[in-house]
Amino acid sequence: MIKTRLLGMLKSGRKYVLLEVVWQWLGLIAQIIIVGCIARTLSKAYFHKLTMKQLLVYIGVALFSVFARMVFDRLYTEASFKASVDVKNVMRDQIYSKLLRLGSGYRKYVSSAQITQMMGEGVEQLEVYFGKYISQFVYALIAPVTLFLFLFQYNLKAAIVLLVAVPLIPVVIMIVMKVARKLLDKYFTIYYGLGDTFLEKLHGMTTLKIYQADEKALEDMDEESENFRRITMKVLSMQLNSTIVMDIVAYAGAAVGIAVTLSQFALGEMKLDEAIMFLLLSAEFFLPMRLLGSYFHIGMNGMKASDKIFDFLDIKEPKAGKEKLDKSSYDIVFKNVTFAYEKKGPKILNGINFNVPTGKMISIVGVSGSGKSTIAGIIRRQFKGYEGTITVGGKELKSINEASLMSAITAVSYNSFIFPGTVRENLLLGNPKSSDKKLNSALNIMNLLEELQPLGGLDYALTEGGSNLSGGQRQRLALARALLKNSPIYIFDEATSNIDVESEEIIMKVIRKLSKDIGKTVILISHRLANVVSSNEILMLEQGSILEHGTHKQLMEKNGSYAKLFMVQHKLETYAGGEK
Ligand SMILES: Nc1ncnc2c1ncn2[C@@H]1O[C@H](COP(=O)(O)OP(=O)(O)OP(=O)(O)O)[C@@H](O)[C@H]1O
Ligand SMILES: [Mg+2]
Repeated sequence: MIKTRLLGMLKSGRKYVLLEVVWQWLGLIAQIIIVGCIARTLSKAYFHKLTMKQLLVYIGVALFSVFARMVFDRLYTEASFKASVDVKNVMRDQIYSKLLRLGSGYRKYVSSAQITQMMGEGVEQLEVYFGKYISQFVYALIAPVTLFLFLFQYNLKAAIVLLVAVPLIPVVIMIVMKVARKLLDKYFTIYYGLGDTFLEKLHGMTTLKIYQADEKALEDMDEESENFRRITMKVLSMQLNSTIVMDIVAYAGAAVGIAVTLSQFALGEMKLDEAIMFLLLSAEFFLPMRLLGSYFHIGMNGMKASDKIFDFLDIKEPKAGKEKLDKSSYDIVFKNVTFAYEKKGPKILNGINFNVPTGKMISIVGVSGSGKSTIAGIIRRQFKGYEGTITVGGKELKSINEASLMSAITAVSYNSFIFPGTVRENLLLGNPKSSDKKLNSALNIMNLLEELQPLGGLDYALTEGGSNLSGGQRQRLALARALLKNSPIYIFDEATSNIDVESEEIIMKVIRKLSKDIGKTVILISHRLANVVSSNEILMLEQGSILEHGTHKQLMEKNGSYAKLFMVQHKLETYAGGEK
């Protein structure tokens, strides 16, 4: 019922949980003293033995205890707050660093929607579990024993009856837990599923509208939400029912205790003040357990949520390489590389051999689905599990340290991610230390400076996905950011797809400059062959194999597939150009 692993992870949190128990226990002692004062006062008054001095002392002690109790309550709330803050911070930290360790291929293991839910609601669920449930669990064991140790000196029989009835509540909890486990499993599966669908539909809203499929999507969502509503109701009614049963046990236990007290008193086994004390404290035996019962359900949610989080934290991480890249060489060499996305799936790459010497530019061309992006993804270690050998700077790709590899490679694809925020913030991702002057000069290289100036320049606030820029501007901004990173290797995967000719020309000019003038190692993937003409080598891919390779001149002389494709594209383009 207690997650020891969670406790183990939370060093300062553990301290606060312990403090919670201490403050609660001291609160109970204060309560006992208050009840003692009331019992003495009442019984003395009944027998006309109460002196003014005694009355003042009892009132004084009781008031002091009430005050102390208030202070302990307050300290308890504070400790509980700190404990839950700690658990949330630590868990979010752990999830985040796990994501970083999983690296750029994290989506293979878990969907983005699940991460969002885990980091938000999932961690939030731990608040009550860690901030209240765990300390209550310990306190609910200590409190009845404390009360017993205090009361048994007055009347053993009544004290034993009260103590023995307390464990009935945990028995109820255990029975409920059996049902609750299965129900909560189902609940969370539906909950996470709903999150996945919701995020996907939200992302694809425009597409759904265009194809008028939003009606159908709405119906699907409706159905899933209805399922979620049903399971939520089931969980709630289970919780409510078990609360009722626990209430019955708690108050019946107190009633039996009171009955025994009264009969003991009637038999003359107890004095009046003792009987009053028993009457006033009998419910206290059960209240902590009863409260544990209510926390239990929320705690159960927390435990389930933490199971999910631990499942995620336990995902086997790709072995982190230790080797660092050496500044002297960034040669990329593929030797006999074969790759399939799934273990027994079709081979997407088949015996690929090529070599990109430092400072050279090679291009990869080929029809859609021939494996170009797969090669780019493998170099960035987005996809793992290839056969053959790949080395970067003479070092086996698998053994290179993640940070070292990521800082050496910059990849720009056709849909570079623009974050909501200013132009400056987006550019600083490339290099957080750049001055405004540097940022502006990067914009200038991409012909963006003048275009953005009227909008506010570096301070222009970009909306989600950079949707308040044109496609060409977006892509040029992504390139400006990539330039600022100034890494030795650049990979461009269709970086000029679907954008205006002017933007494409600007971008291509910069890409060519990168290897020719600045000595960067460049891999360019493009469906437009006019872009690859000046490459040091061109690889023509077909169904995961290299069909032809060589310089543009060599390939044209060969008059094979490349030459044919080039001529077709050339004709189309000059024809379209002639029309203008
Ligand atoms: N994540 C993936 N899981 C499984 N199969 C994939 C995955 N990504 C790509 N594939 C498959 O691998 C093959 C090669 O895809 P790849 O993206 O490398 O092609 P490409 O040459 O870049 O095509 P395009 O010019 O359309 O971008 C395709 O048949 C594709 O279906
Ligand atoms: Mg591709």
